Amino acid sequence: MAEVRQHVVSVIPDDEGKEKFKKSSDVAFYRRQMQGPNLQHRALLDTLVLTERGARLELLNPDTQTKLLLSLSPCKNDTVRILIDELQPIKARYRVPDVITGELQCEQLRVVRQSKLCVFLSWSSGRHQICVWHFPFRLEILCEDKVMVTFNSRSKLWFETLQDPPSSSSHGSELPEDASLWKETFRQFVDVKANGPSSVGSDLSLHGFSHVFGLPEHADGLQLRDTGDGDAYRLFNLDVFAYDLHRRLGLYGSVPLIVAHKPDRTLGVFWLNASETFVNVHYRSADPQDGETPRLKRRRREPQTDVHWLSESGLIDCLVLLGPGPQQLFKQYAQLTGYQALPPLFSLGYHQCRWNYDDEADVKAVDAGFDRHDIPYDVIWLDIEHTDGKRYFTWDPVAFPDPSGLQRHLEGKKRKLVVISDPHIKVDPDWSMYREARDGGHFVRNREGEIYRGSCWPGESSYLDFSSAHTRAWYSRCFGLGKYKGSTSSLFVWNDMNEPSVFDGPEQTMPKDAVHCGGWEHRDLHNLYGFYQHMATAEGLVSRSAGLERPFVLTRSFFAGSQRFGAVWTGDNVASWEYLQISVPMLLSLSVAGIAFCGADVGGFVQDPDPELLVRWYQAAALQPFFRGHSAKETKRREPWLFGEEVTARIRTAVQQRYCLLPYWYTLFHQAHTCGLPPLRPLWVEFPTDQSTFSVDNQFMIGGALLACPVTEAQVKEVKVFLPGSNEVWYDVHSAEEHKGGRTLSLPVTLDTVPVFQRGGSVLCRAAGGASCTADLQLLPLSITVAPDPQGVAEGELYLDDGHSFSYRDRKSFCRRRFSFLSDRLLCRAAGEGETFECDTVVHTLTVLGLKRKPSSVIVHVSGAKDLSAAFEFLESCFTLTVKNLELRVLTDWEIEIR
Ligand code: GLC
Repeated sequence: MAEVRQHVVSVIPDDEGKEKFKKSSDVAFYRRQMQGPNLQHRALLDTLVLTERGARLELLNPDTQTKLLLSLSPCKNDTVRILIDELQPIKARYRVPDVITGELQCEQLRVVRQSKLCVFLSWSSGRHQICVWHFPFRLEILCEDKVMVTFNSRSKLWFETLQDPPSSSSHGSELPEDASLWKETFRQFVDVKANGPSSVGSDLSLHGFSHVFGLPEHADGLQLRDTGDGDAYRLFNLDVFAYDLHRRLGLYGSVPLIVAHKPDRTLGVFWLNASETFVNVHYRSADPQDGETPRLKRRRREPQTDVHWLSESGLIDCLVLLGPGPQQLFKQYAQLTGYQALPPLFSLGYHQCRWNYDDEADVKAVDAGFDRHDIPYDVIWLDIEHTDGKRYFTWDPVAFPDPSGLQRHLEGKKRKLVVISDPHIKVDPDWSMYREARDGGHFVRNREGEIYRGSCWPGESSYLDFSSAHTRAWYSRCFGLGKYKGSTSSLFVWNDMNEPSVFDGPEQTMPKDAVHCGGWEHRDLHNLYGFYQHMATAEGLVSRSAGLERPFVLTRSFFAGSQRFGAVWTGDNVASWEYLQISVPMLLSLSVAGIAFCGADVGGFVQDPDPELLVRWYQAAALQPFFRGHSAKETKRREPWLFGEEVTARIRTAVQQRYCLLPYWYTLFHQAHTCGLPPLRPLWVEFPTDQSTFSVDNQFMIGGALLACPVTEAQVKEVKVFLPGSNEVWYDVHSAEEHKGGRTLSLPVTLDTVPVFQRGGSVLCRAAGGASCTADLQLLPLSITVAPDPQGVAEGELYLDDGHSFSYRDRKSFCRRRFSFLSDRLLCRAAGEGETFECDTVVHTLTVLGLKRKPSSVIVHVSGAKDLSAAFEFLESCFTLTVKNLELRVLTDWEIEIR
């Protein structure tokens, strides 16, 4: 219990009342930039050189007379890269590796016109232009002759060029401000800055935009708030137990992406920097504002959003993604940082976790409980107590004497085991893994060059240096079935505490002056630490299967690109209604920033939920991408059947409905994997021109077809659901009742109601029948629901493959089927070509909603067979046609005609 207390105590201000975590005003580089002058740089236009990858030119800092090198690279996918480095650095600065996937496909720039004042460059057959202004330096990006973005519009460009350390005589107490450039103290922690001041910053104005999103991870609403009234958004990965809500403090992971949206344009600003970063957001209305110069007022006849980025080290590497719509934007971002990994199907099922399941008997009893109570589930999880003294890759010999036997037992029921593997390694020279890591040079070092030690679950620990490819390869091998004793191929992995969490470190993390491979300071790459552990773990699971099987790895810490390696959860939330509510915008923010496979601990990790909260949490989370119940060590047990039959029944229904919807979820994940569109979407992604959707963050779309508004308040009798689109119709998935879009519905609710609506114009595939896990689900027939739009038209797709291997990628072993409904006929056809997947799945039931007349007959045409007339039911009260017992192979072409 001692470690639990340490963890809990860590959030409470200490005796002196000082908070453990910094505010922006506690951070020296933030103060320097915010209090410093706006330096009006000059662009030296006569240094402009056009290159194969775009253009470069020099910038002059008027204050120090130092020069910077600006490189501009327009890319084929309507993305512009703005890179600023020192022209003559005394040493290299950190460039974030491994996040951008592959080479950017650059286009050539053309000089359109040039004067002393500015140079106009264009690309993409003149569709896009960049105008570089000489003084004060700024850079405008134009699409179809309209300025979309101005880089450095408010002259916030800041670039601290690296210097030699001051001689000891000037580096003393008589120069306190200068000294703080080389050393910074927070509470008892001293941070020695080997490179001195190295911070960078710049601002961008997004013209015409009043809504910006992104920048996870913060426990706040979806739309970013104006930071004028308080702290900046901080991106600095930290272990914040039971984090406060509505604060801009950094949490476990960071994606430095802002997505701006207005009715005719969606654009993104990606600030590729892995050091501590702050972002200030300032919304300006179209009305002139106090303190604005007449020139600014004249120029700005539309609203705009100003975004100011500030980072502690590294380069300015800023990618502007030009959209124009949400779909293109998500694709552009995925082309840069990678697509969501296609999860194995089992990982989209329900996961049962707890800190901790005590022993093998406990695990088997919980597993059996799900069957006894007829609740489907796929994975049971083991937290840190499963190990031998918090040594990951080992098993507690008393509680888990036969781990492979346990996994075989679960595998017999087609279920999996997930175990935790944290990045800290217990300092124990008697343990071979510690020795291998030490002798192999796999640990992060302190500034004196010794192996760094900090405290975490095992007590004194050292931390693997995942930034090293060599260390990652070694760590990956540790997951080999021969090496990881007691593991089998049905064991998957959970990476936790990888911000990294260091109980006795500054802000409970690693000191910034710790040193990684290549001599880089931890400050340069702090936000990448968890990303790299996630990468190494996922690669380990792939190699263990000789490259054949898809991995599943959950991580707490993440960065841009982590979507390539698996899933993310929102850490140590609390069992209260407020945390259930915040889970929706938190998951939407992650989704917008590419982290599509995300979820929050169901029920709340800390404290005990009452049964109503638990039920509502299951209902909400069953509609979210990653679905795992988890609870802290000191909480009461909360398996779904411990609260009486009514609660069990409601949880059963929620989980069963999730399983029925898995064919749709899986199809959506395939879409995320190939197009970059997240399964969980803010309403504005589907209704980009409907301004009333822009601020909604208590509802979401699941793909394009379903709108969900989970109940997240206690004791409610009615919820208000906004149904967007005045030309749309929506069907309540439970009652089949049809509603017009463009209005807010008052929906009476009971504890059984989960408000979900199918959009008119969509065709949805569900699994028909009950299953105990996803493997059983794959054997079930399908049920198809057609929801026609006001013109009587609907479309939908279904993606199928084996659910676990890479054959879909390596052998094209998958298939996509398209369902099109038009003129009262439903067609089932191939949606692609050359696909090879074979399966016997059949469509058993067809439901057509909103059918305005009673049909006289339903005819089934299968190519090469005789037409058949099918029995049907028509419910006049809700205009619903149901045809059962169809038994139509989903891989065959067929038509169903309603006469
Ligand atoms: C951290 C994790 C939590 C886990 C615990 C013990 O608090 O966020 O999920 O149960 O550590 O490993």
